[in-house]
Amino acid sequence: TSESDKGWRECMDVAVEVACRAGKVVQEAVKHEKSVSTKSTPTDLVTEADQQVEELIISTLRDKFPSHRFIGEESSAAGEKCFLTDSPSWIIDPIDGTCNFVHSFPMVAVSIGFAVKKELEFGVIYHCFDGTLYTARKGHGAFCNGVRIQVSKEKDVSKALILTEIGAKRDPATLNIFSGNIMKLLSAPTHGVRIIGSSTLALCLIATGAAEAYYQYGLHCWDIAAAAVIIREAGGVVIDTSGGPLDLMSRRVVAAGTHEMANYIVQQLQPISYERDDSDPGVQK
Ligand code: IPD
Ligand code: CA
Ligand code: CA
Ligand code: CA
Repeated sequence: TSESDKGWRECMDVAVEVACRAGKVVQEAVKHEKSVSTKSTPTDLVTEADQQVEELIISTLRDKFPSHRFIGEESSAAGEKCFLTDSPSWIIDPIDGTCNFVHSFPMVAVSIGFAVKKELEFGVIYHCFDGTLYTARKGHGAFCNGVRIQVSKEKDVSKALILTEIGAKRDPATLNIFSGNIMKLLSAPTHGVRIIGSSTLALCLIATGAAEAYYQYGLHCWDIAAAAVIIREAGGVVIDTSGGPLDLMSRRVVAAGTHEMANYIVQQLQPISYERDDSDPGVQK
């Protein structure tokens, strides 16, 4: 309805404000010493800033929208259930690119997505190093600093730049499939493959047309939620690695400027399996 439409627009204004505020906290925190610990594996890093920024975002939003649900990376790590219901739901990655953040490698973002009835309504991504703001609302286009953006319309894979990211698993069998997938794409041949260390910013680069396709196994719903709206509103395709519709909780994604490019990637990939984000058997789906 236009009533809820107006409501979601107001929510998006709040999201933009809080993403920029959080992004500036991250920007400042980069300059100071970081207290780094690990989560699931020695390469799964978390810092005090990750937790503080998530707390800042969720408490600000919860204050304004007390009836909404919140899914955040660090709250999930602390044991909160990660599942989507029909309720208005915020899906938050406070610092995407924590490893980059730890190294001051300038690819770090704050990502805030919003879904209603399990449908993504808008997404906001703030690049913490250069202050670039990516935004999109379903049906209203995608923007970079307020300027409309468009995906690449390239259909020819031999002219494609492909982005991917390394997931959490680093065992030899997984790395073998991971590198096999990259070798296949390089020998296709495509123009190249890049890994920048931030899934959300890689996806934003698909939205602006700086690269033709992106795929990843092992990312989480907070890595894709905001970016999926941004890419779709920029005219692109976001699907499952199997070629079916995107499932936010499945931990895998192919995004591309064109269907041809997305389908090509789908055909090349050998899958890597990850436990779903909503895999707790006790939770309501
Ligand atoms: C990670 C980054 C990384 C990707 C991982 C993500 P985090 O997010 O986006 O590029 O390979 O799958 O988990 O942990 O830095 O928010
Ligand atoms: Ca993390
Ligand atoms: Ca992330
Ligand atoms: Ca994160």
